[in-house]
Amino acid sequence: MTTTADQSLWLSALPATPRPPLTGTHEFDVAVVGGGITGLTTALLLKRRGLRVVVLEADRVASGVSGNNTAKVTALQSTVYSQIRRNHGLAAATDYATASVSAVAQVADLVRTENIACDLRRGPAVTYAYTESEVSDVDHELIAARQVGLPVRASTDVDLPFEVHAAVRLDDQIALHPVKYLLGLAAAIEGGGCAVHEHSRVLDVTGNRLSTADGQVEAAKIVIATHFPTLDRGLYFARMELTRAYCIAARVAAPPTALAISTGSPSWSISAHGDQLILAGQSHPTGKSAVEPFRRLEDFARRHWQVEEITHRWSAQDPTAYDHLPMIGTYTPGNTTLFTATGYMKWGLTSGTFAASLLADLVTDKPNDLADRFSPHRFSLRSLPDLVRKNAEVAVEFLGDRVVPADATSSENLPRDHAHVIRDGLGKTGVYRDADGQLHAVSMRCTHLGCLVRFNAAERSWDCPCHGSRFDVDGEVLEGPATKPLPRREPR
Ligand SMILES: Cc1cc2nc3c(=O)[nH]c(=O)nc-3n(C[C@H](O)[C@H](O)[C@H](O)COP(=O)(O)OP(=O)(O)OC[C@H]3O[C@@H](n4cnc5c(N)ncnc54)[C@H](O)[C@@H]3O)c2cc1C
Ligand code: FES
Repeated sequence: MTTTADQSLWLSALPATPRPPLTGTHEFDVAVVGGGITGLTTALLLKRRGLRVVVLEADRVASGVSGNNTAKVTALQSTVYSQIRRNHGLAAATDYATASVSAVAQVADLVRTENIACDLRRGPAVTYAYTESEVSDVDHELIAARQVGLPVRASTDVDLPFEVHAAVRLDDQIALHPVKYLLGLAAAIEGGGCAVHEHSRVLDVTGNRLSTADGQVEAAKIVIATHFPTLDRGLYFARMELTRAYCIAARVAAPPTALAISTGSPSWSISAHGDQLILAGQSHPTGKSAVEPFRRLEDFARRHWQVEEITHRWSAQDPTAYDHLPMIGTYTPGNTTLFTATGYMKWGLTSGTFAASLLADLVTDKPNDLADRFSPHRFSLRSLPDLVRKNAEVAVEFLGDRVVPADATSSENLPRDHAHVIRDGLGKTGVYRDADGQLHAVSMRCTHLGCLVRFNAAERSWDCPCHGSRFDVDGEVLEGPATKPLPRREPR
């Protein structure tokens, strides 16, 4: 699971009975690891090219970030075009726009051709200024979006119940139910020599062989679509940053039609599903603390809408590459077997879809003009300072955490639903007392590269500030790059 907060609005659409796990040894043309939007779309496109494909999902299809988001499929994505133009130039921003426009069309096409009932509706995507100070960002995005060829217009008539100081608008984008969409993709993959297995975590990839707890697959090509590339090669962790964000769904009298996001910090992302408002924001780097993120979202919702009930709270994280472009291609330079895609900057319903088209071409040796642009092995001199800063921050965490004091010697007086740190002979122990009074104690040394994890009170998880791994209160891995649990300790 991606979150230990209450479940997202979307996940209740998962059927109670999972697909069977992989057992025995099987051969396929392609093995796809991960049943999110990237993995499932890639698998379906490859099946359509006549290949025998298997999808191996550790948990349930769509249970990752693809089932924990705000469900906008749009080519207008906050200030992405001004950002990419600044980092890589206009040609790169234009490539990103071209890929995004075709991804929005591809989602609509897959829904139609595979007959997927996923509550798809069309609406305007909007990047807006919530405060006067955000106006210049919006103005820059308007110019950049026009330069890359998007039919955007400036308009403050955006169906939001508060004053908007400026806005860019792109009509005819998509909102859908992401879990229903992904279940439709999974159903379309199955059959004709292809399969989808749930509860089939890939534990090892050696050459062309993948192993799960109960089965093995031999495949000529392997696509690692695990959101954060979890195989211990390629140094992806050193080139990406994870940010976490929080979402609520609220039943309101007049849900908005726009798929809107403000440019400031905090940013307020707004959408709707039926009679429910979806509000997201309060982003922060994973492992840094958030101050009552759900309460802040609820306050914002109640300030601007007539809220009848808050129905869901959830959160998730997404990686951003140091140079602000997705990474799509071979896992390591020159590798002809292993592929991956990641770094969607919280826009992966769109960019995971265009990643799938590019991966399908790379896997089948079909030339694709965007291959170099999104190659994980590109190097951006202009973004080098960001890379240096990111790794310097990690070094500070790594060295600095060794002198962070423990805050208690015993858990006797630890209140329910609170955590603290105890130093013992084994190093630092994180102790959490649950709502029933039970203590849960784990080593605080992250099993990825050894930074100290921190307690995330909003989600009752131990999160690593270095590369974004997350663990539950009993140490089980919630999100990589870590793959091993935190060792349990005896509570004191
Ligand atoms: C708060 C928030 C809101 C967002 N809103 C939007 C939005 O409105 N529009 C948009 O376009 N994007 C949005 N995004 C981003 C988008 O949801 C993600 O970029 C996208 O879903 C990532 O898809 P994925 O397939 O790469 O990863 P996932 O959906 O996480 O899929 C990866 C899968 O791999 C599985 N897995 C991991 N390890 C293994 C293993 N070893 N073996 C087998 N399986 C494994 C996981 O269980 C998981 O199911 C949002 C992100 C956040 C954080
Ligand atoms: S995620 Fe890398 S050290 Fe924790």
